[in-house]
Amino acid sequence: MGVVAEPLSPTVAARVRGADRETLLCDQDFPRWCLEALEAYGALVFPGIHLDDASQVAFSKRLGRVEVFGRGEFPEIFRVTLDPKKNPAADYLRGTFDWHIDGLTEDVPIMATLLCAHGVAGEGGQTEFASTYGAYEALSEEEKEHFSRTRVVHTLEASQRMFNPNPTEKELAVWRSRPPKEHPLVWCHRSGRRSLVLGSTASHVVGMEVAAGRALLDELLARSTAPDRVYRHEWAQGDLVIWDNRGVLHRALPYDRESARDMHRTTLYGDEAIE
Ligand code: OGA
Ligand code: MN
Repeated sequence: MGVVAEPLSPTVAARVRGADRETLLCDQDFPRWCLEALEAYGALVFPGIHLDDASQVAFSKRLGRVEVFGRGEFPEIFRVTLDPKKNPAADYLRGTFDWHIDGLTEDVPIMATLLCAHGVAGEGGQTEFASTYGAYEALSEEEKEHFSRTRVVHTLEASQRMFNPNPTEKELAVWRSRPPKEHPLVWCHRSGRRSLVLGSTASHVVGMEVAAGRALLDELLARSTAPDRVYRHEWAQGDLVIWDNRGVLHRALPYDRESARDMHRTTLYGDEAIE
């Protein structure tokens, strides 16, 4: 097949070389290679591959079961943009500026996300990734033992409050309509690997005083996303990035509402509950 993954940092992300649109859409062996590389590297970068929506959806379907959001020709595509004319839910996307894992308020979080850059920001708008497998491995043996029993409550409210600290009654009601979800801090995957479950949705630690639990979550997040553990992707138009949502935290660096940044996103359902 002649496709190789070249690591982009010591702990997370690789650039894929030797794969073009044809490889993604037609090569028999590529989907399996891609899913294995995704699990191994956490994020895969395909520079300047320029997939149109039809190709992105077709490739996504080769990798797994694809989430459907809307109507129209490509209901699987969700536009990640701060422009309310392109996405009526644009306001919520300011939540992407804080480190997070997608779908932690669901029973089974999504497995992976694909973003194709159709427009890029003049300033800001990079996407950063940090491995949560790496974060677990960096704990001391004592911490690994201690945190094996720790449970954390995740809410939409916690993530939204970070950028909207004084919500209206209506906003609060919307946030609270999504029930809180309790997850273990340490995810023991089917593969045998372990990862930390952290990010902006983490509201409090079960059985701990709220402020102390918050401080613990903040400290673990800071350690997991220390600059030397992060890969920062500088987008060029036509780039495709896929990340393994089971094993990475991610965030967008802030960009302007008026910027041309326009990401076309597809998501693959997960089949592994956090246990
Ligand atoms: C997302 C997300 C980050 C970005 O789509 O889930 O967090 O850089 N996006 O747009
Ligand atoms: Mn996200």
